[in-house]
Formats: sequence, C-alpha cells, structure tokens
Amino acid sequence: MLKTIVVAGARPNFMKVAPIVRAMRRRAHEFAPLLVHTGQHYDAQMSDAFLRDLALPEPDVYLGVGSGTHAEQTAAVMVRFEPVVVRERPHWVVVVGDVNSTLACALVCAKLCVRVAHVEAGLRSYDRTMPEEINRLLTDQIADLLLTPSPDANENLRREGIAPEKIRFVGNVMIDSLLENLERAASSDIHERLRLPRDYAVATLHRPSNVDDPPTLARLLDAFSAIGERLPVVFPVHPRTGARLVEFGLDDALDPSHVRLTPPLGYLDFLRLLSGARLVLTDSGGIQEETTALGIPCLTLRENTERPITVEMGTNRVVGTDSGRIVGEAMRALEAHNRSAVARPPLWDGQTAERILDALIEASASRG
Ligand code: UD1
Repeated sequence: MLKTIVVAGARPNFMKVAPIVRAMRRRAHEFAPLLVHTGQHYDAQMSDAFLRDLALPEPDVYLGVGSGTHAEQTAAVMVRFEPVVVRERPHWVVVVGDVNSTLACALVCAKLCVRVAHVEAGLRSYDRTMPEEINRLLTDQIADLLLTPSPDANENLRREGIAPEKIRFVGNVMIDSLLENLERAASSDIHERLRLPRDYAVATLHRPSNVDDPPTLARLLDAFSAIGERLPVVFPVHPRTGARLVEFGLDDALDPSHVRLTPPLGYLDFLRLLSGARLVLTDSGGIQEETTALGIPCLTLRENTERPITVEMGTNRVVGTDSGRIVGEAMRALEAHNRSAVARPPLWDGQTAERILDALIEASASRG
C-alpha cells in the first residue's frame, strides 16, 4: 500500500489532480491518497468552484498560503508543507504542473528524502523570464519520477541529463478530466447566461509578461476589440488581470458588445464555452492543450510555447502580442475554420491517471 500525498495549489492544478485522486481511490488496495491544497489560489472562483465541478473530495490538509511575492509564496508553502510530510511520512508525493506550489513541495521532499513524482514533467519554453519555466526546470532536477505528457518532454529531459530510468511517457492527465467531463459540461447553461450567438471567440490572459505591462495589455485589448467587431469575444478575467485593468485604467476601454468581460468561470462552464468557440485567444498553457484535444483553433499570445505538440497537431499558432498580427491570424483562422476530425496526440486518451499509478507502483518496486 503506497501512502501518497497529492498536491494541488492553483487553478490549473485541480483538473490534473482530480483524475489521479479518483484513480487512487478506485485502487484503494494499492494506494492511500492524501490531498493537500496549498491555498495558492484561494477564492471561490479560482478554487472552490473547481473542487466542486471536478467532484474533488475536501482536501485532507489545507495550507492556506494565499498570495504574495514569489519568494513569500514559495517559502510559505515550504514552511507549511514540511511538517505535513514529516508527520505523514508518505511513500510518494505527487506534484503537478509548474506553479510555485509545485516547486515548493518538491523541494521540501527532496530535503526530507521523500520521493517526488512530477506530473507534466519535461515541458520547456526555453524562456527563463517565465516564473513557470524556473519552477519546471528545478522541479524536474529534484524529482525521482518524471511523468511526461508528450515525447518532446522526454527529449528535453534527456538533453538535461536526467537518467532515462526516471522518465515515463504517460500522456496528458488534463485530458482525462476533459474527456470525463465533456458530457456534464454540455448541460452548462453558460451560452444562455451570456446570451451568446452561435459564433463567438473566447479570450483569456493572465501571464505577468502580458498583463503587468500597460502597453502590452493595451495592445492585446485592441486586438480583442478588433476581432470583436467580427464576432463577440468572451473574456473571463483572471484576478491578476482584473486588478491590472483597473490599475491601468483600461477597464472601461472595451465595448461590451464586442468584448464581454466575465468573472473567472468554473470548470464545466468554461469547458462548455471552449467547446463551442470558433476561435480561442490565450496565454494559458492548459488551454492550448484543451483546444488541441477539442480540435478548436487557438492563437497563443506569447512568443513561445512549452507545448509544441499543440502546434504540430495543427490547432495552435504562437502569434506573439502584436495587435495587427493577432487580428490577421484571427481572420485567417476564422476563414479557414472547418472543424475536421480531431486528431489527438498520442496517449491523450483519458487513461493517463491509470498509467501514472502504474508508474508509481513500478518505480516503488524497482527501488525496493
Ligand atoms: C498562477 C501560476 C501560473 C498559473 C496561474 C493560473 C505561479 C508562478 N503562477 O499565476 O503558473 O498559470 O496561476 O491561474 O505559480 N488571486 C485571487 N484569487 C485567487 C488567486 C489569486 O484574487 O484565488 C490574485 C492574487 O491575489 C494575485 C493574483 O491573483 O494578486 C495572482 O495570483 P498568483 O497566485 O500570484 O499567480 P497567478 O498569476 O494566478
């Protein structure tokens, strides 16, 4: 029986841990999971709505760290997570993704000689100005088991000198959540609530490089407005972005008939919104993957992506933040749009959580 702590911290973690915790509960003869929520994301819209939509159990331990600078947030998670690991002495700690909580918990475990498995290992943007890239690089250096979503991630890890026996290609666990919840999401009434026409686009922004710099944010909003003249753009606003819009006086700049601002949406509402969209504009990592799995055209508003497989599959284009380029690419995507049969990357098949559990069992056996 493997006692396993599964860590979730921020919004993009919840849809990755849900299938893992569920699979561990199904395989109760092999796993005893404990869910730890660091509280990096803490409010109803960023956290509670996700736990509910994903039918995640109440966390066994809530660390309540909240926001702060990177140092404050990372340190607070470490200080509060360490006694939990000392008390519980798990066989494994599973961390997911690339948020500050991921690195903080991995580092605590490395010092306590408790084995860490990193889900979504090996993704690289090769842009060290992104806080997430630092979290990815360092977590992968200290993890004992690196569970990758795509073959390019295996290659990156090998290039960094990670021992091949630590690396397992398991597929994309976020797509487990997506496939499991598509049917439930179909009953969301988000279209009625927002009174959306058949054709609309969806936009999201939260990366510091896009939202903390006034000229960049203004350029992106200009692009949304121009696209909004062709079809309404629904823009669920991340708390960081909402704060910047107010701070920079950009919150009134948008014509609501072109760009509709909404609060952050729950998982099922957002999935429904995404699956009906003609076009998605985003700087999120996860949404690049979800649009690939759904076969929806996506424009990534960044200079790079750590998820090149989404570009290879043909759904995603990395277009930067120049407003003219974004609008041009959007118009091209809307004209070309003819949703064809969805081709999913290998092992994005809804069975990744099972493979993660198998890998944990196998790695435990090989270490004795
Ligand atoms: C974090 C992650 C990022 C991930 C994103 C998804 C890091 C370094 N960044 O960025 O990788 O893609 O989450 O959402 O870990 N806030 C709220 N309510 C909340 C959470 C945050 O109002 O529930 C506010 C905070 O007070 C802060 C801002 O949103 O002002 C940013 O939160 P923070 O956790 O610092 O990082 P994110 O930008 O959300």
